[in-house]
Amino acid sequence: MTERTLVLVKPDGVSRKLIGEVLARIERKGLDIVALELRTVDRETAAQHYAEHDGKPFFESLLEFITSGPVLSAVVEGPRAIAAWRQLAGGTDPVEKATPGTIRGDFGLETQFNLVHGSDSPESSAREIKLWFPNL
Ligand code: CMP
Repeated sequence: MTERTLVLVKPDGVSRKLIGEVLARIERKGLDIVALELRTVDRETAAQHYAEHDGKPFFESLLEFITSGPVLSAVVEGPRAIAAWRQLAGGTDPVEKATPGTIRGDFGLETQFNLVHGSDSPESSAREIKLWFPNL
């Protein structure tokens, strides 16, 4: 079934010049990039994006981090796109969970600075795409 997912390359991924690497892996997998934007988000948008983590000990520093520089946002489409992108990204903790060969496993060291984001369900994908690409 064709699905859409929201992909982010976070400020650490952008500053480490990994945009090309990430987009290349998405294209190599056979997924379609249907929307793409580079921008620095405000605190309000970041808080909405990460609403489910509100109240967690890392919430404030996560907001500070995600608003600290440009973020690449993309809508990626294809069969089972949500799971396919999560497979490419690797687990949230780049050392304990992500395996070599994944983006986080190959390039990441710390859980907060884990380079990329992907929607975790069809519901969050719909919500996140609406937030990042209201005109799509
Ligand atoms: P992401 O997949 O974007 O979803 C939530 C983000 O919160 C996660 O990637 C990390 O960047 C961050 N995060 C999750 N758990 C922790 C943690 N224990 N400490 C710091 N940051 C975290």
